[in-house]
Amino acid sequence: MMWTSHPVAQITGTLRAPGDKSCSHRALILGGLAAGTSEISGLLEGEDVLNTGRVMVALGAKVERVGDGAWRVTGVGPAGLKTPNVDLDFGNSGTGSRLMMGVVAGYPIEARFIGDASLSGRPMGRVLDPLAEMGARFEASDGKTMPLILTGKNDLQAIDYEPPHASAQVKSCILLAGLNADGETKVREKRLTRDHSERMLRGFGAEVVSKRDGAANVVTIRGGQSLSAQETVVPGDPSSAAFLAAAAMISGRGGIVVEGMMSNDTRDGFYRAAALMGAHVGAEDVGDAAGERLIDMSFESADLKGTEIPIELVPSMIDEFPILAVLAAQASGVTVVKGAEELRVKESDRIAAVVNMLRVNGVEVEETQDGFIVQGCAGAIPGGGLVETHHDHRIAMSALVMGTASQRPVSIDDASMIATSYPDFMEHMKELGGDLRSG
Ligand code: S3P
Repeated sequence: MMWTSHPVAQITGTLRAPGDKSCSHRALILGGLAAGTSEISGLLEGEDVLNTGRVMVALGAKVERVGDGAWRVTGVGPAGLKTPNVDLDFGNSGTGSRLMMGVVAGYPIEARFIGDASLSGRPMGRVLDPLAEMGARFEASDGKTMPLILTGKNDLQAIDYEPPHASAQVKSCILLAGLNADGETKVREKRLTRDHSERMLRGFGAEVVSKRDGAANVVTIRGGQSLSAQETVVPGDPSSAAFLAAAAMISGRGGIVVEGMMSNDTRDGFYRAAALMGAHVGAEDVGDAAGERLIDMSFESADLKGTEIPIELVPSMIDEFPILAVLAAQASGVTVVKGAEELRVKESDRIAAVVNMLRVNGVEVEETQDGFIVQGCAGAIPGGGLVETHHDHRIAMSALVMGTASQRPVSIDDASMIATSYPDFMEHMKELGGDLRSG
């Protein structure tokens, strides 16, 4: 169903950030593998995460909802995963599917991985190839895509692997396989990506060593370690909060506080880029959760200026380029994004989708192979366009945020997939003063 976001004069209020998607997947996966019963609170109850929970059940874990965002997971422990008697359906989720390929690879079971049209088009060779080197077998569709069948084994061999792409999903997949492999598995990343798997594995009792060498990072995990159940509080998601933050920044009168957000330098590139563009961003320490620091952040309207996004920020804001493009459209001057070719293989081709989102709303933008160049509208985005979302939640939310500050309303062709990562998005935007309507 179509949704339209109408221009509003102000975006104000205080909200709690929804649970982090990356940490929510990992909490269910590690809880489902551990011995004993883990208690999780603040879990993001988005479709992607719920699919991971269902998959853990199909593989033998017990996963129960005991309250709002409160889940109890009894893991399989030393008994290990069982062969599922259903297909493992990951819906839209690259994270759920790629991490679980690493998990399944370390057990003597066979599983069929399936997903929606968007996920079935995404490259899985990046995880299947290293898993095959470790001894797993797979039969995949053309181009190493899903649907695919993965056969694991309990004497997987450790590897020393340097992924060709900066990808936390690939790193996490190999570390999870390494947990059940013979020997020490190493992942060498040229540029540090989000490190939630490493932190949470430690929280569940595994020894994982990370050695930073400038921008490079080597993570080592010894095989044969067991996990024990934990109490996990999922921190707030900086990627979801970025939509609210941007709405405040581009608003004529914006002033919001987002509480309980994770502060992790592998995830905060958007906030650093926004500050470079002149945004007013405040942060106050409020404790920690799941091995992560927590902060309350405040955002206000600002006269944004275009900038060249430093290439070293790219991995730490990889999910935030659609919303960064909205800031760039509202700014004065030119914003240049480079070195972000991974955007081509996200839930949609996000370079093409972003360029289309801006163009149909009257913003001048040039598409490049690894990014885009936006000519900012200096506070006067024309709007009036209908944005094709390509079943991509972050394109949908970015377009709706853009509509709050455009001269004419902005519409999207479909909003249903927003529930994959941020089921309360419409409600939260309305609470802050957004005028979002279906139809
Ligand atoms: C994620 C890693 C990133 C990110 C995704 C979540 C994770 O993907 O885009 O939304 O939780 O590990 P890549 O590993 O493909 O960069």
